Amino acid sequence: MKIIEVKDYSEMSQKAAEYIIEKVCQNPKIKLGLATGGTPVGTYKKLIEDHQKNRTSYQNVTTFNLDEYIGLSGENKNSYRYFMDEQLFNHIDINKQNTNIPRGDSKDIEEECQRYEELLAKYGGIDLQILGIGSNGHIGFNEPGTNFTSQTHVIELAPSTINANARYFNRIEEVPTKAVTMGISTIMKSKEILLLVSGETKKQAMSKLLNGNVTESFPASVLKNHPYVTIIADKAAVSGLMIHSE
Ligand code: F6R
Repeated sequence: MKIIEVKDYSEMSQKAAEYIIEKVCQNPKIKLGLATGGTPVGTYKKLIEDHQKNRTSYQNVTTFNLDEYIGLSGENKNSYRYFMDEQLFNHIDINKQNTNIPRGDSKDIEEECQRYEELLAKYGGIDLQILGIGSNGHIGFNEPGTNFTSQTHVIELAPSTINANARYFNRIEEVPTKAVTMGISTIMKSKEILLLVSGETKKQAMSKLLNGNVTESFPASVLKNHPYVTIIADKAAVSGLMIHSE
């Protein structure tokens, strides 16, 4: 794992956007894995700014999001489909048909998981996967205890995840308790992974990631087994940690 320590959220966003833009320019047909949540919002803003200024094109890019809440349709403001449209897709020249997010309102959710996994395989997998990390170590919505061999599946959200994500809802009771997420093995099949980390609330998770063992009780630890991971983390998340990385 390569770690790039930056000053703050703004610098993390800038560096991450530059990283992604370079990859898109190198391979205009790149398959990008995308994340939601607070961490990548600044990065997406920078991608939009760059698109407007430098006309970096996403016309031939295909995206796959990590996860979606179960029970929310794409029109629901709290769905990840809505989030991605608002935060990125509506502002760049991507073909919406090339943007894939699990359908959380699917009538047969198990079938939807299978469809998503098969779709990923059909496209030959993800070239560059963007990840955030939960304070409990989740990646995607793979909560602690998730099997490393898991594929796209239904997950019961951990209480800490529900608490953390309640900030986007009117009331905590409105936060869905289940989600569809790419599995750990799905994520690990990505050719390359870019993990973005910002803020004091992630410091403990970073300490475990950098210095702990690889264990299913801390899902992000699996990234140590991946050959091509870059972490862009700000000072608040990593400063002072004993970093033993390769
Ligand atoms: C989002 C996702 C999650 C988030 C994580 C961190 O699609 O899969 O793993 O990356 O919960 O969320 P934030 O960025 O809001 O701290």
